[in-house]
Amino acid sequence: MHKISPTLPADFLWGGGFAAHQMDGAYDEGGKGLSVTDISALRRDLPIEQRKQTDLSRDRVRELLADDSLTFPKRWGIDFYHRYESDLALLGREGLGLNAFRTSFHWSRFFPTGDEAEPNPEAFTYYDALLDAMVANGMEPVMTVSHYEMPLALALDHAGWLDRATIDKFVRYCQVLFDRYHDRVRRWILVNQINMVAHEGFNHLGVPTDETDNPVQARYQALHHEMVACTLATAYAHEHYPELEIGVMEYADLSYPATSKPEDVLATYQRNQMELFPADVLARGCYPGYARRFFADHGIEVIFAPDDEVALAAHTADFVCFSYYLTDTCSAASRAAGEQGKGDTLPNPNLEANPWGWAVDPVGLRYTLNVFWDRYQKPLYVVENGCGFHEEPDADGVVHDPYRVKFYRDHVRQLLEARADGVDVRGYFAWAPLDIVSASSCEMSKRYGFIYVDQDDIGQGSGRRVPKESFDWFRRLVTSNGAEL
Ligand code: BG6
Repeated sequence: MHKISPTLPADFLWGGGFAAHQMDGAYDEGGKGLSVTDISALRRDLPIEQRKQTDLSRDRVRELLADDSLTFPKRWGIDFYHRYESDLALLGREGLGLNAFRTSFHWSRFFPTGDEAEPNPEAFTYYDALLDAMVANGMEPVMTVSHYEMPLALALDHAGWLDRATIDKFVRYCQVLFDRYHDRVRRWILVNQINMVAHEGFNHLGVPTDETDNPVQARYQALHHEMVACTLATAYAHEHYPELEIGVMEYADLSYPATSKPEDVLATYQRNQMELFPADVLARGCYPGYARRFFADHGIEVIFAPDDEVALAAHTADFVCFSYYLTDTCSAASRAAGEQGKGDTLPNPNLEANPWGWAVDPVGLRYTLNVFWDRYQKPLYVVENGCGFHEEPDADGVVHDPYRVKFYRDHVRQLLEARADGVDVRGYFAWAPLDIVSASSCEMSKRYGFIYVDQDDIGQGSGRRVPKESFDWFRRLVTSNGAEL
């Protein structure tokens, strides 16, 4: 094993993390089809924890499509589709100083229904220009292939990943992207937060609730198909473009034991194992024993095709990456009361949370990096880290955000500690340097950026981009490669 230098390498990636569906807009332009995310409505009438539309039946989807009184902010995003040139200039070499930019290929822009024999040529027109503009601004594109952007028709007509035939459709989509962009994109994330399935039956896996009486079983079967598709896409990349690096991405949702009672410690360990299960499969090449035990204990039967085991073992991920926002705690009782990954944790009384209840825990980033490194021994990237705040500009139009500087300083300090621990972490992506539409609640008012976007929840405002006070501090951090903390 090579020695990891405690200082950051010169080619460390300082990136901005984004997703097409939260910023592009233009949901019905350029030949794009509807995706599962285009029906995410703004629901300010509901409590925060109920705003995420994750479990939908086909009837509910039809109602959403027909309801003219609803607002769908992701359909316009921040109009990045039309403004990307000036936005990238603001983020790149001459602006915030980023040297990497992560966003997603919007699946339904390439394959409007997911079933087409040939990709939509207008998708190439947009992404060719977008990738060129990233590079021109000194930023390496790091691209996600699937970030809650499955064509809606695949979900409604085929039950998304529950249908084994979706494997071929996804692999074909990946092949199209690798063939076209292998010279411009080196690092690829196949699926955003592949472990986060309990909350994302429809908007990630595309499985309508009316498809099954056993949603948990359906989700793990769908996840199995998604993982087989990832390994087959990885095989294609390895065989045709060996210079590419294909990554598996997790939502880093590690819990601490709520007490030191052995049964709480064990329950927490088991919960964390199952959160790491997809990365274990894709980075190590097989279903671990603990997962087989979990399925047996919960009456879940995942059906394998004859070649699946061989396929999973043959091509594992080249790197592992994760989003990091928060930590929580777990006990035997909380684990028993909830479902894996949903309602199975407790708040940590030692941590403060933001207004959306996300507990801020910089030390947890060091802990998480160490856990991932010990487990996988593959290059690691933190591809999302940030915190949402309510913000208003002052009379001069500037947002004063010392809390954001504190948040990033505390987290980067822990990343540097992890590096000194010997963890091979090669990149850090702030989520998201420009204010964008929230994935979970569709609000604009959950602001993450170093750059304020003058737009409200219902899309009103000039759209003007104004650097916040934290902009200069983050630029110094990035351009000094972490030295000016
Ligand atoms: C991550 C997602 O889980 O969380 C992003 O990958 C998302 O798409 C981010 O934006 C923050 O969540 P939210 O709901 O505050 O936008």
